[in-house]
Amino acid sequence: MAAATAPGSTVEVDALINAYFTAWQGTDEDRIMSYYADDVRLQIPGTLMEGKEAVLEQFVRPFITGFPGNRHLVKKMIYGPGVVAVEWTFDAEHKGPFAGHAATDARISVPGCGVYEYDLARQQISAGRIYLDMGTLLKQIITDLLVDDHNWTEDAYRIFEFDPASRVTMQMVRERVHPEDLQSFNAVIARGMAGMDLDFGFRIVTGQGAVKHVRAVARIVEEFAGRRVFSGDLQDVTESKAAEETLNRTRSELARMARVTTLSALTASIAHEINQPLTGIITNANACLRMLDVDPPNVDGARETVRRALRDGNRASDVIARLRALYSKREFTLEPVDLNEATREVIALSLSDLQRSRVIVRSELADDLPPVAGDRVQLQQVILNLVRNASEAMSTVDDRPRELLIRTELDTNNQVCLTVKDVGVGIAPEAAAKLFQAFFTTKSDGMGIGLSVSHSIIDAHHGHLRATANDGPGATFSFALPCGSGASQTA
Ligand SMILES: Nc1ncnc2c1ncn2[C@@H]1O[C@H](COP(=O)(O)OP(=O)(O)OP(=O)(O)O)[C@@H](O)[C@H]1O
Ligand SMILES: [Mg+2]
Repeated sequence: MAAATAPGSTVEVDALINAYFTAWQGTDEDRIMSYYADDVRLQIPGTLMEGKEAVLEQFVRPFITGFPGNRHLVKKMIYGPGVVAVEWTFDAEHKGPFAGHAATDARISVPGCGVYEYDLARQQISAGRIYLDMGTLLKQIITDLLVDDHNWTEDAYRIFEFDPASRVTMQMVRERVHPEDLQSFNAVIARGMAGMDLDFGFRIVTGQGAVKHVRAVARIVEEFAGRRVFSGDLQDVTESKAAEETLNRTRSELARMARVTTLSALTASIAHEINQPLTGIITNANACLRMLDVDPPNVDGARETVRRALRDGNRASDVIARLRALYSKREFTLEPVDLNEATREVIALSLSDLQRSRVIVRSELADDLPPVAGDRVQLQQVILNLVRNASEAMSTVDDRPRELLIRTELDTNNQVCLTVKDVGVGIAPEAAAKLFQAFFTTKSDGMGIGLSVSHSIIDAHHGHLRATANDGPGATFSFALPCGSGASQTA
């Protein structure tokens, strides 16, 4: 150790050591570092640091990140010439990463002592040896929190894929948490430690590398010897998460298709936009004729009206061009489609609408239905159109339950068949021939597009879409598709 300067009174030494320890209660590196001489030599368990830079990097910074606001409770000081031995307890909360452990909020209390050489004139420590049981410190970090009283259920062990014989530690749990979710996981746990009920989801990565979605609920049920005891439940929600994602994807795809195919609002405004220039063209052409008919003909006026007619003509043709771009067909993707699966998704998507319309949906989906080759989104659009029509056909039905049956089956021709049956108003004989024509509608707010689009989609899949009147009330729409391959590449 460096030669000590002249010893001061014990009061002065006390004051310096206390000021130095007080600085540790903050997170101001510079302030703490100001208590070290430039050539300070400091030894902590396992590390000898020479010079301020080393002390900052290897000692001060890791400690105030890990334990900001830490406290040294001085128990005893023993004074020697230019040197003082201090016995203390290091009290802190583990609030930041330390020695490879992410913050646990564990409360630490570790006894230790230090022998410090000092320079009273500079108010600095010139050398120090610190004795602190690092093992005890680390043990407190990783065994605090939930761990001591951890009664994990078999389910929880299974979800995390922990060895049932092992004792779960918070560190083990954290090691499983998906790296992207670790920060929010820690934040939620910290909130729980502060007394809030927890209900949160996060991902874990098992030892085999599989990603699972876990939902956790927990609340503090008691405080025991200063430690909080949580009670809660863990659930593996991976499957429902996947279903939710599929549903969201389908929903957005269908929403896009719906925009392109039903277009009711847009089509009305397009009709309006085309109608206006057409009216303009006719008006201007009539005016032009009148101007040419007078004697002498009003050539200038006629030229002007023709110009206006041209302008309107161009506008109408722009609208058509835009319309064509809008309808331009999205690429047709041919893939094996499980019609049952596709139907389930459509039902899930429409369920809230159907419930609002008081429609009772029953599905009879055949087991072992072979896949059809087709464009899943387009086929789902057809199913959606049929379901909507069925629901709309029952909107005035009040004397019987509004039952809608969706059935899939493999028919006698080895075709995959889907049927939508309702108990609605049924099909009037004069309407039967026109159902599939574009713009045929009997609804005040209908466009008459749904069935014609559906028909062309099923055609492109080499299938047949047909409508039949029921024996009882209502109508049945169905389509049959060849299973396996056989669909065309264009929609
Ligand atoms: N399940 C059904 N029961 C009775 N009539 C139906 C049924 N489905 C369709 N129709 C008749 O066929 C017509 C055309 O249906 P389509 O789906 O093509 O157009 P829409 O439903 O009127 O309007 P949208 O373009 O919004 O679908 C309907 O207006 C209706 O008269
Ligand atoms: Mg319709």
